[in-house]
Amino acid sequence: MCGITGYIGREEAVFVLLDSLKKLEYRGYDSAGIAILHEGTVTVRKTKGQIRALEEKLKNERIRGTAGIGHTRWATHGEPSDVNSHPQTGASDRIAVVHNGIIENYLRLKEWLQAREVVFKSETDTEVIAHLIDYYYRQGQGLLKAVQNTLKRLEGSYALAIAAADYPDRIIAARKDNPLVIGLGKDENLVASDIPALLAHTREVIYMEEGELAVLYRDHVELLNSQGDHIVRSPLHVDWDAEAAEKGGYAHFMLKEIHDQAKALSDTLRPRIKAGDITFDEFDFEEFCGNARRIVITACGTAWHAAMVAKYAFEYFARIPVEVDIASEYRYRNPVAQENDLFIVISQSGETADTLAAMRLAKKGGNRVLAITNVVGSTLAREADLVLFTLAGPEIAVASTKAFTTQLMCLYLLAVKLGKLRSRIDDTEYRACIEDLRRIPSQAEKLLSTQDLIQRFASRQFNKHKVFFMGRQFDYAISLESALKLKEISYTHSEAFAAGELKHGPIALVDTHTLVVAIATQTALFDKIVSNIRETSARGASSLVISWEGERLFESVADEVFTIPKTRDCFSPLLSIIPAQLFAYYCSIQRGNNPDKPRNLAKSVTVE
Ligand code: G6P
Repeated sequence: MCGITGYIGREEAVFVLLDSLKKLEYRGYDSAGIAILHEGTVTVRKTKGQIRALEEKLKNERIRGTAGIGHTRWATHGEPSDVNSHPQTGASDRIAVVHNGIIENYLRLKEWLQAREVVFKSETDTEVIAHLIDYYYRQGQGLLKAVQNTLKRLEGSYALAIAAADYPDRIIAARKDNPLVIGLGKDENLVASDIPALLAHTREVIYMEEGELAVLYRDHVELLNSQGDHIVRSPLHVDWDAEAAEKGGYAHFMLKEIHDQAKALSDTLRPRIKAGDITFDEFDFEEFCGNARRIVITACGTAWHAAMVAKYAFEYFARIPVEVDIASEYRYRNPVAQENDLFIVISQSGETADTLAAMRLAKKGGNRVLAITNVVGSTLAREADLVLFTLAGPEIAVASTKAFTTQLMCLYLLAVKLGKLRSRIDDTEYRACIEDLRRIPSQAEKLLSTQDLIQRFASRQFNKHKVFFMGRQFDYAISLESALKLKEISYTHSEAFAAGELKHGPIALVDTHTLVVAIATQTALFDKIVSNIRETSARGASSLVISWEGERLFESVADEVFTIPKTRDCFSPLLSIIPAQLFAYYCSIQRGNNPDKPRNLAKSVTVE
């Protein structure tokens, strides 16, 4: 996720901004840049790569100035490169902007500006913001008015810091759906995406609220609401240490990322729903999917579990056969490629060696490949024919959480759209599905607020010798992911199986040291899962069921029931995985492990 900093005070801004940016490195980034105000000029320096590379670039020059803005970029529109790095500037190169978020209508705004002879330098959505401010400013509106008029035209999310050559005494900041915090210092003021970037200067902070705009001067800060009225808010005193601050106050990145999911799901969904329709700006959906006779999906680890969910989803909505394979299997089994196969690869990092090899094999066999990945500029993103990005922001904990649920969101959007294209679902059903998907982020938020229940349950169960997850259909796919999460970070022996397989082997292992977790969201199969739970309880296992809110059936069958907000059965994976992630997290904590860095595991497996 991009990091923003802004400074106005007495110190050399270059050094303050570089130091603050380093405190935001934990957010993940692929390029960095600064803009410094001094005597009617704004000097921009930026580069692809680490902050070190930016420091190297600045080494031989002295950029004077005690005000400026800085940025670490996590690419979303346009690959990591010098020109796509922020700050972005307007046509006159006198207004510089740094941005965290996604401007959903940037293509329309770009066309509007191009029709007014504006020439674009980068592929970023951010550049439209700089040009719009510049455009309004050159029309004679003051800087503040130009910014306010620009904000009115933006759809999507943003946290912004703006520096203008003609106004060296101020920095403007604005936020919508992305965080910004103001730091109040002595004879200096700062703004940043997060607290760690402020702590070297102050512990007195003001959190900006939705739609607010701030003008920072050296000796005071003006805060305005979205109507432009001045507001007064008392600062808060922060007493977190720097390490806790990086994790947004959460004890671990994994817990933070679990909680990030509501926003990540919304970020991934929103740009793809326009006027009640699912649309992919990234590629021509009909052209890519229109003739598909079969879908082949390949991936590793958690991404493979997303593929398993997708198999059920594509078959359910689009009635199209789907083959799912682990990338390391696919690449060595001499697979049969067919004409009109639609080939999808899924990878959070876009760098997993087996997944890349599988993609290259598919391309060699004549398939066009659609990649679903979280990392713009990754090898997968560069080599695939088409790319759909999950907009989860960087995932730092080794165990994948928000990348998984956002992969699911992309896959559901594809499946529902394909169902419509193939006339397997009618207009009413299509619209109802979109509405249900739209509700998922707030349902996830609600579900996350029940984490205490799961924490208490984990504190009673973390010592179990074995934990088995079972479910049917969509719930089977989520059982696989749940078992992986638990083994990855708690080192508990956990396995998943299709509940119907219980009698074909796993039941031989069930005893009083076993916890059985049944995921039960497929209403038509409830009776069958009830029988499966009874069979394990009869052998002394403890049981937990994850099912729908309001469903009473399991209360008399299982020792414990966790509920998730009701959506349609086929969308349950977007929610049912969340309690399982939290359970794994709290078992890991109870066992004294570091869930962010589990033993023997790597975030990105770039070798075989
Ligand atoms: C590693 C990670 C997993 C991840 C898998 C695939 O094993 O620890 O969390 O699911 O690689 O990674 P990818 O980046 O391709 O999704």
